[in-house]
Amino acid sequence: MLTGKRILLILSGGIAAFKCHDLIRRLRERGASVRCVMTPAATKFVTALSLQALSEDKVYSDLFSLTDESEMGHIELSREADLLVVAPASANILARMAQGLADDLATTVLLATDKAVLVAPAMNVRMWLHPATQANVETLRARGVAFIGPNEGAMACNEYGPGRMSEPLEIVAAIEAYFMGRLPASEPPSLISGPSVIRMAPETMGGAIAHRPLVGRRAIVTSGPTREAIDPVRYISNHSSGKQGHAIAGALAALGAEVTLVTGPVSVADPAGVKIVRVDSADDMLAACRAALPADIAICAAAVADWKVRNAAHGKLKKVPGAAPPALELVPNPDILATLSASGPQRPALVVGFAAETENVVANALAKRERKGCDWIVANDVSPATGTFGGDRNTVHLVTISGVEAWPTLAKDAVAEELARRVVRHFDKGGAAAAS
Ligand code: CTP
Repeated sequence: MLTGKRILLILSGGIAAFKCHDLIRRLRERGASVRCVMTPAATKFVTALSLQALSEDKVYSDLFSLTDESEMGHIELSREADLLVVAPASANILARMAQGLADDLATTVLLATDKAVLVAPAMNVRMWLHPATQANVETLRARGVAFIGPNEGAMACNEYGPGRMSEPLEIVAAIEAYFMGRLPASEPPSLISGPSVIRMAPETMGGAIAHRPLVGRRAIVTSGPTREAIDPVRYISNHSSGKQGHAIAGALAALGAEVTLVTGPVSVADPAGVKIVRVDSADDMLAACRAALPADIAICAAAVADWKVRNAAHGKLKKVPGAAPPALELVPNPDILATLSASGPQRPALVVGFAAETENVVANALAKRERKGCDWIVANDVSPATGTFGGDRNTVHLVTISGVEAWPTLAKDAVAEELARRVVRHFDKGGAAAAS
């Protein structure tokens, strides 16, 4: 998609500069060429040598270099680019851009360019939220500069909030969107609109709870993918690792619950203290969940295949020379979460589903909670840039009848522990049917 596109990557000073190594790799593997310009501050965080090795091009940083200026003047640098990307963009370079300063090569190129500019800010949360920075951002936006990020999360300076540079794949997606004629969203993600979302800072998570408060409670947890047979040797499945579901089962067990973990094929270790039921297909998973009833809690974290193959072959499908490949007819699988949510007198008092979404995470999760009839939805963004599938961290929203909470990015174990704590508090409050 980026074949032949020429990106001029301008790095300013910030710890996020290290992410530019990956950004350059990602751009180059998509066919773009990348030429780097560094501010003097950027050279304190990454070396010109590493950028040069990855971009396979000369790196420019000195406005007054006679050789550079004779080979490739600052006007030429921007003329030869299709898009200028400032990443990381510090508060300082945003201020200099807004002022129209040209006091180093980077800002001189930015002032001299007639090309589009995409900016990925990265700075301390207070610097980002400072009225001076916000005014500079507004000025640049009004001049047509596009922004990607910053993201919200834990920062190198031990603070939390908006200010983290967007991940390399998010920046790549914004660049691709630019070349497809769509500029990236002009609203920074820190200003989310729509249903009211309470942002949970890390220090508001956790908290003391009694020793093994879930003793006497039974829980069913589904985890991992399902496999839907095509024939005895082939199947349809997905990338779910089971890390999140297994962590939840372990966290509930650690708090004293009697847990049945119904899991598709995964390679993560069994959590301690839970009964494991291993299944392959969605039909088997549903049967195992039904067999584990009654239960007080059901948490469906499995990535159940939505479809199975009608009439899977009993013997291996053989290739017949010259014949067309077999046409697979797919039929829907049972919805385990919806079935448990509607299981009448056997319905667990608290039914929790997950929502794996790649866009409109909150809106889709709100709709999914209604549609599936569960009490809570843990919505996670599984778009490739997040690395959620198979990764160790997760950024989730907890959707309940009382509203939507945006949790900070946490290790999957920490998401599981926090969810288990919420389960405890829910039952402490009496576990009202309309779970809050
Ligand atoms: N789920 C389930 N049985 C299915 C499909 C999904 O139990 N056959 C559960 C998942 O474990 C998860 C929730 O339903 O808790 C939502 O799964 P998700 O894949 O996000 O949603 P889908 O039902 O596939 O809906 P869509 O395709 O619209 O995203």
